[in-house]
Amino acid sequence: MTMIHVIKGDITRLTDVDAIVNAANSSLLGGGGVDGAIHKAAGPGLLEECRALHGCPAGEARVTGGYRLPGRYVIHTVGPVWRGGGKKEDEVLAGCYRNCLEAAARKRITSIAFPAISTGIYGYPKERAAGIAVHTVQSYLEEHPGKIEKVIFVLFDDESLQIYKELMKKRGRV
Ligand code: APR
Repeated sequence: MTMIHVIKGDITRLTDVDAIVNAANSSLLGGGGVDGAIHKAAGPGLLEECRALHGCPAGEARVTGGYRLPGRYVIHTVGPVWRGGGKKEDEVLAGCYRNCLEAAARKRITSIAFPAISTGIYGYPKERAAGIAVHTVQSYLEEHPGKIEKVIFVLFDDESLQIYKELMKKRGRV
């Protein structure tokens, strides 16, 4: 049974996960928000490896090393920019979570931490994004038992933390 945790904190400081997920942009060449924090903590080697990937389409995931980060891997994914909900944003966001888990499983990564993808600079409504995140992750874990042992949702603000905690309570998984 996979443990799903919900915590508040800085994802770059997590020491008990194999991989942290980066909410990147399609260039994979760094940015602000969690992307900026991850590149700052990982050091220049991360950007060098990202350069060689030549970008990533929205909804997909790419795996790199973790460099100076505590975790061994960074899984970069590109969330959708919120445009009002009529541009398949929900499907693209669900794809981010699913593709990160599939990429992790392929690398035999058994513990993974997610930030709240797209809810910062990309402007996604927090509740809507949280619902997609929790539903997509729980569905993947039910369809692929035994692959991932631990998932941590790492929130950076109290509002997001409360949203996820309420959701997890409702879905009967604390
Ligand atoms: N640890 C965990 N979560 C964080 C951290 C951190 N160190 N820093 C920011 N966050 C949170 C934000 O508060 C937000 O809830 O990550 C969530 C995602 O916000 P952004 O980082 O702004 O990412 P996103 O909304 O997906 O926008 C992506 O921003 O940084 C650029 O290059 C990135 O262009 C891309 C865009």
